[in-house]
Amino acid sequence: MHNLHPDVERILITEAQLAERVREMGKEITRDYEGEQIVMISVLRGAAIFMADLVREIDLNVEMDYMAISSYGGGTRSSGVVRILKDIDSDIKDRHVIIAEDILDSGLTLKYTMNLLASRNPKSIEVATLLHKQTPTPAHVDCKYTGFMVPDEFIVGYGLDYAERYRNLPYIGTLKESVYKHE
Ligand code: IMP
Ligand code: MG
Repeated sequence: MHNLHPDVERILITEAQLAERVREMGKEITRDYEGEQIVMISVLRGAAIFMADLVREIDLNVEMDYMAISSYGGGTRSSGVVRILKDIDSDIKDRHVIIAEDILDSGLTLKYTMNLLASRNPKSIEVATLLHKQTPTPAHVDCKYTGFMVPDEFIVGYGLDYAERYRNLPYIGTLKESVYKHE
């Protein structure tokens, strides 16, 4: 059990809440894909922790694969124009694909990834996102499975980072303002 990280302002979702919701999502997927096999794909790096927990709650044959992409353009918001740094190794033609995502914000990255994978003619393609941010302009991406709605704040933990830190926190929380300021 971790102590509360000194940079964390507030815990939004506890370790126990995450575990319970991920278990429910796994059960739902197990029910929906009964008798089928799945290829689950996560976009590195944030979603890797969620996917690792989710697959262990799915009682079916599940293959795991990974993609790494980089967004073009500066700023804190993604542009939606992405470059593939690492492609998946699996052939997904005629397979059931589920993309595991950590958080859906603008949805631009996910939209691009979905279109790319859909062009390879999978049998089906769906999204399981752990978090969905309640932004003023909601993402137009159909997510079959959503873990939690979260406020439009910057959050870290359970795979989510700030400057590559805090991914290993077992809970999801907000950061203290002092962390963003230059000391
Ligand atoms: P989108 O293309 O705007 O939906 O970007 C989604 C990606 O941005 C996620 O996969 C995360 O890597 C990152 N992201 C969005 N919001 C947060 C946040 O609050 N904390 C950490 N990373 C975030
Ligand atoms: Mg990500």
